[in-house]
Amino acid sequence: MGDMAPEVEQAQPPAAFLVWEDLTATVKNLRGRKSSRKLLQGLSGCALPGRLLAIMGPSGSGKSTLLDSLAGRLGRNVGLSGRLLLNGQRRRTDYGVAAYVRQENVLLGTLTVRETITYSAHLRLPSSMTKMEVAGVVEATIEEMGLEDCSDRVVGNWHRRGISGGEKKRLCIALEILTKPPLLFLDEPTSGLDSAAAFFIIQMLRQMTRDGNKTVISSIHQPSSEVFALFDDLFLLSGGEVVYFGDAKLAPKFFEEAGLPCPIKNNPADHFLRCINSDFDHVNATLKGSIKHLSSESSSDPLLRLGTAEIKAMLIDRFKSSEYALMTKRKISELSKIEGFTVEFLTGSQASWWKQLKVLTRRSFTNMCRDIGYYWLRIIIYIVVSLCVGSIYFDVGNSYNAIWARASCGAFISGFMTFMSIGGFPSFIEEVVVFYHERQNGHYGVAVYTISNFLSAFPFLVAVSMATTSITYFMLKAHRDFAHYAYFAISIYTGVAVVESIMMVVASLVPNFLMGIIAGAGIMGIIMMTAGFFRPVRDLPKPVWLYPIAYINYATWLLEGNYKNDFIGSSFNPLVAGDSKVAGEFVLEDTFGVTSTRSKWADLLIAAMLLVMYRILFFLILKLKEVVSPLFRKAAVDTKAL
Ligand SMILES: Nc1ncnc2c1ncn2[C@@H]1O[C@H](COP(=O)(O)OP(=O)(O)OP(=O)(O)O)[C@@H](O)[C@H]1O
Ligand SMILES: [Mg+2]
Repeated sequence: MGDMAPEVEQAQPPAAFLVWEDLTATVKNLRGRKSSRKLLQGLSGCALPGRLLAIMGPSGSGKSTLLDSLAGRLGRNVGLSGRLLLNGQRRRTDYGVAAYVRQENVLLGTLTVRETITYSAHLRLPSSMTKMEVAGVVEATIEEMGLEDCSDRVVGNWHRRGISGGEKKRLCIALEILTKPPLLFLDEPTSGLDSAAAFFIIQMLRQMTRDGNKTVISSIHQPSSEVFALFDDLFLLSGGEVVYFGDAKLAPKFFEEAGLPCPIKNNPADHFLRCINSDFDHVNATLKGSIKHLSSESSSDPLLRLGTAEIKAMLIDRFKSSEYALMTKRKISELSKIEGFTVEFLTGSQASWWKQLKVLTRRSFTNMCRDIGYYWLRIIIYIVVSLCVGSIYFDVGNSYNAIWARASCGAFISGFMTFMSIGGFPSFIEEVVVFYHERQNGHYGVAVYTISNFLSAFPFLVAVSMATTSITYFMLKAHRDFAHYAYFAISIYTGVAVVESIMMVVASLVPNFLMGIIAGAGIMGIIMMTAGFFRPVRDLPKPVWLYPIAYINYATWLLEGNYKNDFIGSSFNPLVAGDSKVAGEFVLEDTFGVTSTRSKWADLLIAAMLLVMYRILFFLILKLKEVVSPLFRKAAVDTKAL
């Protein structure tokens, strides 16, 4: 296998033999690390190519935790010990080696099924493939996942009804199998689906496992008997302990030997869960008081005679000394010794950096164009508010009173109107969630995402600033030349772009709609307070408010630049008739504490530098989160395990 030709590697991806031994996951206790809770207790098992392994158990038994441990995606507060071997070697199972289909569907609702798969294919398949070849892969995947009927329908979002739940799940699986990963994890792919849709998905997984010699591990909650019949192997969990691991077909025999035969016509999966789900103890305890409860039944049925806690303990004990456990041990020791699997897995994306940037920018732009809430609604709101501002300050003029009117109008536009950009936050969250998911599966890097996000938003932000500037500038009639107009437009663009960047930073730290809006509004409140309108910058208390807040506040620089743009060269009528005219420069210095030594363009440049700084901050936060996250920590299992 080691000296396989490269073409053969491409055509037939390497097989994945996954072995785990004595895997224990513990929640780190934040107060004192002594009394930590065990989520998984010394689990051992293996998954083989061409076989579908189902992880079953009652809710809270640790199915997702086991799946996350195997896929290297445990939460930060969970420690893992044990041994995890892929093809006999200790190595990571993330970044394209293994694909992971999450329980919730992470998709962009505005794209059609074909577009979603095509963008994903261009993002990850080798750049050397032609468009036709990529289209061929896309069509083959659509066919494989049975998505032909809905291939041109949109996925759907809050304002547009889209494809069904089962189709969404199949689309999520399609995205992960595009690059033919040898190892595929799925967390409850059938939850929320009816039995036909669930059967369809598991049947497809089984077919895929057979055809592609893939190793598929899926957690599943309560499969129907038809679905259960499709499993090759079964890992039955209860309270983080193994109740049964082995061939799914032999599981009924194990239960029968333990004195818990599955009644004929019963769904074996239901029977297993009924035996080990301790929630039934509570139900029985409640029913005991009821007259309707038939006492004659309880004496004959072991399930009613014994509590599930006892049954569970008995099964766990029995399994440990059973031939099935022995068989597992033997298999594990055989697979641990596998050598010669030196073929490197093709991990992550095979596309070039530039291609990823181009595709991601285009996808993001398409998404923004189609989502009415993303920019279109915001552009309309900006136009409406600009018309309001324009009519309130219409033909503001050069009277003495116009001094404050012009200052407050400038402050409103560079403060409040740029602040309105936080309206895009829900859409940012949607994109950030998709980014996290795709990043975890190794689709593209952080830098590509940061830059593409900026580029795709650029045309919309230019449209927002042009609309605002054109309306207010011509209605105010304060200046009539292009230079002032251009300055005003660039200044608004910078402001809106900085606010978007700040909100992206917030979205990366708090990826929650409500908390993000609250945090963003708080930050913007501080920004407005220290921008120089409510209190001149020179009068701000020096510690904290002036240094550093006012200096890292984009609005301080924009407002100062806008004051200079408006007042320098202007003159105003005096308060008392007959006095000399009031020069704009005098107003600037005397009323607003702005010295005109630095040019307005320098102020704009500093605001633009802050824009770059916030983008870099966004990039660093995303990077930092990866460094501290166990998923991206180098060989999370390896280092802790041995
Ligand atoms: N990061 C974590 N921190 C603390 N506790 C956790 C963490 N992850 C899981 N748990 C706990 O571990 C137990 C098992 O959780 P897990 O999500 O693996 O269950 P599950 O079998 O997937 O359940 P379900 O069928 O409801 O999805 C639960 O009691 C859960 O509260
Ligand atoms: Mg779960």
